[in-house]
Amino acid sequence: MRVLVSPSVLSADFSRVAEDIRRCEEAGADMFHLDVMDGHFVPNITFGPRFVAAVRRETGLPLETHLMISEPENFAQAFIDAGSDMVTVHVECPGAGAAIETIRKAGKRPGITLNPETPFEALTPYLGDVDLLLVMTVRPGWGGQKFMPEQVPKIRRAREAFKGEYIAVDGGVNFQNAPACREAGANVLISGTTFFKAPDMNKAIRELRGDAGTN
Ligand code: DX5
Ligand code: ZN
Repeated sequence: MRVLVSPSVLSADFSRVAEDIRRCEEAGADMFHLDVMDGHFVPNITFGPRFVAAVRRETGLPLETHLMISEPENFAQAFIDAGSDMVTVHVECPGAGAAIETIRKAGKRPGITLNPETPFEALTPYLGDVDLLLVMTVRPGWGGQKFMPEQVPKIRRAREAFKGEYIAVDGGVNFQNAPACREAGANVLISGTTFFKAPDMNKAIRELRGDAGTN
């Protein structure tokens, strides 16, 4: 199984985003992860559609926008217009279903995700409607948190129950826990802190993918 690496732009230097995007591309990143927080669904604020549009102008790689916002149904279109290829919404939001419909109708790819305390079963109604299932391995709100190993069984459940293209893991992914994520069935590893701190991003990608030693 080919494992993709998706750098989380939240860990980039916002005063040099274009440069950081280029470094990721040169290192061999497969796509980008964009964390949108509204200060309501999560206790932090990051950026909105204009920032996503700015990233869009800098790269041709797929953009996956992770909406940690209370009303994804009201903003999905704006993030599609900004150039997102995939938009991931939280199952805890009552408007998740409507947002997924909007994303699909726009010809883009919907994703669904869940907080660590939400049981996997909550995803059941959406499994046939999305292309990406994202397992959160930290409580959403900040980059740089510690990976929650007790969430790994959800990756395994996803591998059994989900027939869509991508099973992604988000939060605290590093070189130590990446093998467990891959072994459980993840094929997209999202990485912020570990990736942007790595002295050699290409090596970091190969290690996260599990093909260190090859080029
Ligand atoms: C957490 C975000 C993550 C985060 C990942 O709320 O959804 O995408 O930026 O960053 P690291 O790898 O630093 O946990
Ligand atoms: Zn995220």
